[in-house]
Amino acid sequence: MFDNKLHTMILSSDGSYTAFSKEYDEHYHSTKDGALYESLIKHVYPAFKIKENLDEINILDICFGLGFNTLATLLYHKQNSLTSKIKIYSPELDASLVKSLNEFTFPQEFQEFKHIIEAIVEEGVYEDENFYVEVFLGDAREYVKRFENKFDIVYQDAFSPSSNPTLWTKEYFSDIQRGIKDDGVVTTYSIALATRLALYENGFNIYINSGEGFRKATLASNSKLQGFELVDMEHKISCNPNAVPLRD
Ligand SMILES: C[S@@+](CC[C@H](N)C(=O)[O-])C[C@H]1O[C@@H](n2cnc3c(N)ncnc32)[C@H](O)[C@@H]1O
Repeated sequence: MFDNKLHTMILSSDGSYTAFSKEYDEHYHSTKDGALYESLIKHVYPAFKIKENLDEINILDICFGLGFNTLATLLYHKQNSLTSKIKIYSPELDASLVKSLNEFTFPQEFQEFKHIIEAIVEEGVYEDENFYVEVFLGDAREYVKRFENKFDIVYQDAFSPSSNPTLWTKEYFSDIQRGIKDDGVVTTYSIALATRLALYENGFNIYINSGEGFRKATLASNSKLQGFELVDMEHKISCNPNAVPLRD
């Protein structure tokens, strides 16, 4: 039984379960967009549209939570018969959540990754010839400082800036900028101007991730992206002169 004093399992619109956090008073995924669909459409599809053809793809998954972004990445890799080696690094503060994931009802699509979930629950790490997944039980703010010029993709999927502000500040994104490669990409559901400013003031170009059947999301990249609409940040700033990024 997954439900406990901090979490409840909730059915989302695509038929996959997510969880509600009583501590943060927030769902782990959009119940409207659907948990699995949100992982795919806001993180995995746009990231892999840009990064599909690399021999090795290093991903920072902020934060592991129920593991959907990590597992949806493995699903995408299998469904598209990719040959890239995928290495995922994911911090998660809530050790008891990770330890309870054997009890969570994952979507049928993740059934083939049951052994990977079990390894993460038991050992915090999984590796085979295609995948390396490491879950760090601790503070993402400390963890991200370990890396320099490492990541091709960063899934920025913390709880919202209002309930978990330390994972959305200008200083935090400065560490992300240090950890990402020059042509790396950040995906996030947040479209808040404060989030985009925190990324922009660290040198990222800001793009819109939009499409059928989901609310707009954000992509950030140091290099120019083809196929995504660039946000004119200077125009946004001139229209909102008092807007500021969150700070530590
Ligand atoms: C929105 S959920 C992540 C959902 C996840 N990406 C998934 O697909 O299931 C946010 C997660 O951030 C974790 N968290 C909050 N503050 C953190 C911190 N400082 N370091 C690491 N994890 C943190 C919470 O425990 C929660 O599991």
